[in-house]
Amino acid sequence: MIKVSKLTKEYSMGKIKVPALKGLDLEFPAGQFAAIMGPSGSGKSTLMNILGCLDRPTSGQYFLDGSDVSRKSDNELADLRNRFIGFIFQTYNLLPRTDAIGNVELPLIYRGMAAKERRERAERALESVGLKDRMRHKPNEMSGGEQQRVAIARAVAGDPKVILADEPTGNLDSRSGEEVMAIFQDLHKKGITLVLVTHDPDIARHAERIVSLRDGKLLSDVMVQDRLDAREVLAQMPVNGDKTA
Ligand SMILES: Nc1ncnc2c1ncn2[C@@H]1O[C@H](COP(=O)(O)OP(=O)(O)OP(=O)(O)O)[C@@H](O)[C@H]1O
Ligand SMILES: [Mg+2]
Repeated sequence: MIKVSKLTKEYSMGKIKVPALKGLDLEFPAGQFAAIMGPSGSGKSTLMNILGCLDRPTSGQYFLDGSDVSRKSDNELADLRNRFIGFIFQTYNLLPRTDAIGNVELPLIYRGMAAKERRERAERALESVGLKDRMRHKPNEMSGGEQQRVAIARAVAGDPKVILADEPTGNLDSRSGEEVMAIFQDLHKKGITLVLVTHDPDIARHAERIVSLRDGKLLSDVMVQDRLDAREVLAQMPVNGDKTA
């Protein structure tokens, strides 16, 4: 599904060049749930932005579902991103003055989908993340965990094949983070390819595979032996005394 080879990314800061990725070879087969770890500055977000077609590599190749992304124009790239990929950020990136359903509908508007189908899809997506009763809430009327679930609904509403999440639980308390992981594990069961960046080894253990980067290079790549099941973890968590941020 996703394949990069000899991928490099160099940022230019005036005359200084900052190498962020130094020749990465990686493959994520369709349907895999992978976590990416690594210290701050190791290139995780740089990689995710390239995989999400939000940025282009300096050199190397990126194949998404068999097609060479580097050969596509900016417009083709935007279209590919909209149809193929759902992106989730640490800070949710919701429109502040738009309610939950409006936020989820937005990418479907860009796709030119008719209003009725758009609304139905957005409602279904919000329902699937347990937010049917929060549709008319604006971001500042929701907890951090709820806002992130709106962002997930927005990412899945368009039926993407790939979900990319850059530290999606970074701003959440442990219960809300676990709820997000439960949704990701559901998406994985439905066959979606997931790549998640996290600093938290316990979050990474919900995935099937952990890829570690260091200094723009691959440090290790292992399959998870003792996977965590988010619903089992949630069942053992105290309900009170662990308030959502
Ligand atoms: N827009 C940019 N311009 C210049 N340098 C950048 C830019 N974005 C990232 N870098 C540099 O590239 C390197 C990799 O950054 P990146 O954001 O990918 O790291 P990261 O692994 O996501 O770190 P963190 O865990 O802190 O989010 C760092 O040295 C960073 O300073
Ligand atoms: Mg980052």
